[in-house]
Amino acid sequence: MHISQTLKTVEFPSFIFNASGPRCTTQGELLKIAGSSAGGITMKSCSPEARQWNPEPRYIEVDMWSINSMGLPNHGYKKYLEYAAEIKKQFPNKPIIASIVWFCPEDFFLLIKAFQEDKNVDVLEVNLSCPNVVGKPQIAYDFETTDELLQQIFALGITKPIGFKLPPYFDPVHTEMMANILKKYPVDFITCINSVGNTLIIDPETEQPLIAPKWGLGGLWGDYVKPVALANVRMFYKMIWDKTKIIWCGWIKNGIDVFEHLLAGASLVQLGTVFGKEDTDCFERIESEFIEYASSKGYSDISEIIWNLKEL
Ligand SMILES: Cc1cc2nc3c(=O)[nH]c(=O)nc-3n(C[C@H](O)[C@H](O)[C@H](O)COP(=O)(O)O)c2cc1C
Repeated sequence: MHISQTLKTVEFPSFIFNASGPRCTTQGELLKIAGSSAGGITMKSCSPEARQWNPEPRYIEVDMWSINSMGLPNHGYKKYLEYAAEIKKQFPNKPIIASIVWFCPEDFFLLIKAFQEDKNVDVLEVNLSCPNVVGKPQIAYDFETTDELLQQIFALGITKPIGFKLPPYFDPVHTEMMANILKKYPVDFITCINSVGNTLIIDPETEQPLIAPKWGLGGLWGDYVKPVALANVRMFYKMIWDKTKIIWCGWIKNGIDVFEHLLAGASLVQLGTVFGKEDTDCFERIESEFIEYASSKGYSDISEIIWNLKEL
């Protein structure tokens, strides 16, 4: 089975790798990903200075879903430049993805420039969709501001593959509005979707929310979110397929989930929660489950599956 993938000029030995989030904050964690069968290494979303965790409890997971409000804890972008240098030294053939998060315009452009100019980072993923920073909006729900930001980003002279991590959209009209903005710029990929933001889960026994930050509101993941993610991949692919490769992420638990997301239009997939739970073994497990399933259906290359959802 042919499972390598190209993003602009960057070669991924496998199209399955980690999402920015669990287990990618420290240099040790990042080197462990690089040494596994993950096809690339996504680093934790970073800010100009280091950030601490939101107060506990901030992450609750059961079988069918998880809710979290971590607050983007990270070591600050200068550390991630150092970590990227060490990863590249030890693993020169694995692409490194820097995840840059929007807090305020000045910082944002500083970070994008720093990673663009760095010789070790291969890909820029710009997170326009974090729902868990108190007082900060999910910028990709503000179409006008997103358009202005993209205009300013591309004016910086970006040459590396660059993509934008988006929140879920629930109406095709909104998806189309975002797709029309993305089409105006040389966007190489989108990552969809980030969590369903600002959801509330209540424990009726204690009469309290399950997590503490932001009045109990947090990003929701789970089996219920997978159809939302699939729909976003399909809608975006239909609207911008000729310009953008979609990376998908969202509640992949096994190889068949991966197969479904390729059918919907994803070209690369990122694992978040399952990686948090199982550590790097999940990359090998999910890859071999996928290969077994896809081969049993007669496929020998992922390109035969992508956007191959049959019409009813
Ligand atoms: C504990 C945790 C921390 C996360 N932190 C980030 C982050 O720093 N940056 C980001 O873009 N997404 C973050 N995410 C979202 C994941 O990257 C991913 O979009 C999401 O979890 C869906 O993938 P999954 O279903 O495989 O978990 C986080 C998710 C979790 C569960």
